[in-house]
Parts: sequence; structure tokens; C-alpha cells
Amino acid sequence: MQNRGTRTLETRRLILRQFQNGDAADMFKNWASDPDVTEFLTWPVHADVQVTETVVRSWIERYSDPSFYNWAMELKDGGEIIGNISVVKLDEKIEAAEIGYCMGKAWWGQALMPEALTAVIAYLFDEVDLNRVTAYHDTNNPKSGSVMRKAGMKQEGVLRAAGIKQGIYYDKAVYSILRSEW
Ligand SMILES: CC(C)(COP(=O)(O)OP(=O)(O)OC[C@H]1O[C@@H](n2cnc3c(N)ncnc32)[C@H](O)[C@@H]1OP(=O)(O)O)[C@@H](O)C(=O)NCCC(=O)NCCS
Repeated sequence: MQNRGTRTLETRRLILRQFQNGDAADMFKNWASDPDVTEFLTWPVHADVQVTETVVRSWIERYSDPSFYNWAMELKDGGEIIGNISVVKLDEKIEAAEIGYCMGKAWWGQALMPEALTAVIAYLFDEVDLNRVTAYHDTNNPKSGSVMRKAGMKQEGVLRAAGIKQGIYYDKAVYSILRSEW
């Protein structure tokens, strides 16, 4: 494998690009302030836009690291940023990446995330030369499993009580795709 960092990717409806100064306002408004978006995520809603600004600044500082992969999803139509998709864990020894993603409610149900996930998987196999891409979802959030299947991933199983949110354990479904299947 060879790390290549967060390069710009293009799909039919999206530009996947690095976060930039000035993205915090859209990120806060479109998804980071919405409890319906964060319901199944590991982070809580941002209390105010200053929290989002701090997060975006910390990501921008990391783009010089070629092993950091974190894309803003920009709509070609209108230029708004509507979500993000990133590598949340990279295991270089086995050449495997775990992906995480989230998007504003206003754009759910248009298969935009499967489009973004497919492009990121293609990049990680074709350019970064990984061998395995994996993703997890709370079993109470089956929409996310649907995204993974549409991007060609297969469910490997369910890890019981493998996550905890607000003191309540939840089961995690694990999906993967291997380079040989791509
Ligand atoms: C999960 C998520 C990424 C789906 O992205 P998307 O672009 O809407 O994906 P799709 O359009 O392919 O929709 C996926 C499924 O959700 C369903 N769905 C979409 N909007 C919905 C809504 N408001 N209520 C219930 N189901 C909905 C779709 O019908 C679809 O089901 P199907 O594939 O069986 O037809 C998006 O809902 C999201 O960002 N949610 C919040 C963050 C999150 O849960 N991230 C994943 C953590 S593992």
C-alpha cells in the first residue's frame, strides 16, 4: 500500500474534497447540530458553531499527513457541503481501512452516500492499494447497512454488545469488501 492522502474525488453528483476554512458554518447547519444525524454516531451534536470550527481546523492541520483521509461531500449542484466520509481507522500492517460517514437529513434517501462510499472504496483499492475496507453500523440503524451493501460490501456478522452509547450497549454489524472482490 501507499498512502496518498485526501485527494479530490468526483462522482456523478458530488465532489469529495478536503475540508477548507469556511466550511464550519455549513457543516454545523447541515449536519453537526442535528441530533437525528448523530443518533447512531460516536460523537454528540455540536453545541455551537465554535465547536465545529475547532473540529474543522484540526482536520485541516492533518491534511499534510498522507495517512489522513477525510472528505467533505460537496454537491455539484449548488456547491453546498452536505456531509463527510473518512477513514476512521487505518491498519497498515494488514492494509485495511475502516470507513465512517454522515450526512445532513435534508439529503437522505437519494443514494448520495452509496455514491460517495463507492468512490472512496475505489480510491482506497486502486490508488492506495489497500486489501480490505470495512465499516460498522449499530444494528438499530439498518439504513447504514443498506449503504454498505449498495457499495458492494458484504456483512460478515454481528458483534454483540460491542458498542455503548449513553450507558446502553448496542450490537454492531460488520461489513467488508476485499480488493479481490472489487
Ligand atoms: C445512513 C445514511 C448515511 C444513509 O445515506 P443515504 O444517502 O440516505 O443512503 P440511501 O439513499 O441509499 O438510503 C439508505 C436507506 O435509508 C432509507 N432512508 C432514507 N431516508 C430515510 C429516512 N428519512 N427515514 C428512514 N429511512 C430512510 C432509504 O430508503 C434506504 O433504504 P433502502 O436502501 O432499503 O431503500 C444517512 O442516513 C446518514 O447520514 N445518517 C446519519 C449518520 C449515520 O447514521 N451514519 C452511519 C453511521 S454507521
